[in-house]
Amino acid sequence: MDYDLDRLSIIHYPDPRLREVCQEVTEFDDKLAALAAKMATLRRADKGVGLAAAQVGVPLRMFALNLTGEEKDEMVFVNPVIHDPQGSKETEEGCLSLPNIHVQVRRPARCRITAQDLKGNPIELEGEDLLCRVWQHEIDHLNGILILDRMGPSDRIATRKTLKEMEAGYQARVSA
Ligand code: CO
Repeated sequence: MDYDLDRLSIIHYPDPRLREVCQEVTEFDDKLAALAAKMATLRRADKGVGLAAAQVGVPLRMFALNLTGEEKDEMVFVNPVIHDPQGSKETEEGCLSLPNIHVQVRRPARCRITAQDLKGNPIELEGEDLLCRVWQHEIDHLNGILILDRMGPSDRIATRKTLKEMEAGYQARVSA
């Protein structure tokens, strides 16, 4: 995968790169670790809890997560898969690729995740509430899915104008 680490930034809706289905990571090298570090820096700057590689325009199956903002709680999940989703809960979600958009999203309330760390070692964890929700939100990104695809009719109406403005802004930038 070819990308210039120094030029990466968080991309916003409706950038079509957010709709790509990302590829499995096969090389657990220094380049991958550097990408994860860059993602954590960008996520921190925008005060997010999770950021998928797709959101910096790199279509790889990985995301960086930190629920507390503390250095010790930094986590990277590579090639993540959700198992045994249970329960159902609706909560407001935002997304660093959709600034100023907050919508209600219904998701399983508990699940297990398997993944690999930056060295390729297996990770297996159980989570509930926010943790489980962020896992699912970030894995959606790896499959080109956004919270816009999961919101209900009232949020669809409420966000319509903001989304139209974002679409117009994007069109103006790409045609400039
Ligand atoms: Co997001």
